[in-house]
Amino acid sequence: MKVLAIIPAAGSGKRLKKNCDKPFIEVNSKPLLFYALNALESSPLIDEIILVVAKKRISKALNLVRRFRFRKVIKIIRGGKTRSESVSNGLKLLKKSNADLVFIHDGVRPFLEKSLIERCIKAAKKFGSSVACVPVKPTIKAERNGFILKTLERSTLLEAQTPQVFRKDLILKAYKNKKMLVCSTDDSKLVEKIGHKVRIVEGSNRNIKVTTPEDLLLAKALLKR
Ligand code: C5P
Repeated sequence: MKVLAIIPAAGSGKRLKKNCDKPFIEVNSKPLLFYALNALESSPLIDEIILVVAKKRISKALNLVRRFRFRKVIKIIRGGKTRSESVSNGLKLLKKSNADLVFIHDGVRPFLEKSLIERCIKAAKKFGSSVACVPVKPTIKAERNGFILKTLERSTLLEAQTPQVFRKDLILKAYKNKKMLVCSTDDSKLVEKIGHKVRIVEGSNRNIKVTTPEDLLLAKALLKR
């Protein structure tokens, strides 16, 4: 089975308050994006990679791919205004590809363990789709106009991570719903909406998304260990 990875890395990193696109921030002397790409390049389960970056970062991304000899990166393309637009740009190239599974992983999640790649692909082969999840740690409340609307039952809640892996036909169908794309921050949500049951895979607490300055400190500390 051929597996093609799409790596959205076209975010602006506003929440990081750094004057540099988040995926290219140096973390322990390598760009943040290096770590996810390196995990995929090293995995025998991944065949090809499409990297999605901001238009003005395409040449920087090309340099990174050359510098670290990431041979699986077949295309570097520009992203869109939202994450789903960026993924959608990657999916446009899929129509011509002979891939069976699409493996989507945020470029800013550097701790992509080999075992997690394996779990997600194995489940998607069997069930058509998979999403890495971990139980939520805090108590989550819904809010309206400055007051608590309700408290959600923590034991039933999961935090969705990436990787998320889908059969090619499913993800292409899910991304046809342009209305849903506007408010989607998660690919599996779109697949749920077309009536497919997405399989849950055990994620990892190390698999953090580097979003805030605190996440960056944590990522640096974890990389040093
Ligand atoms: O913004 P968010 O935290 O959801 O970003 C998750 C991933 O999606 C990051 O790797 C980010 O670079 C990417 N992204 C993108 N295009 C955007 C916004 C985010 O590829 N317009």
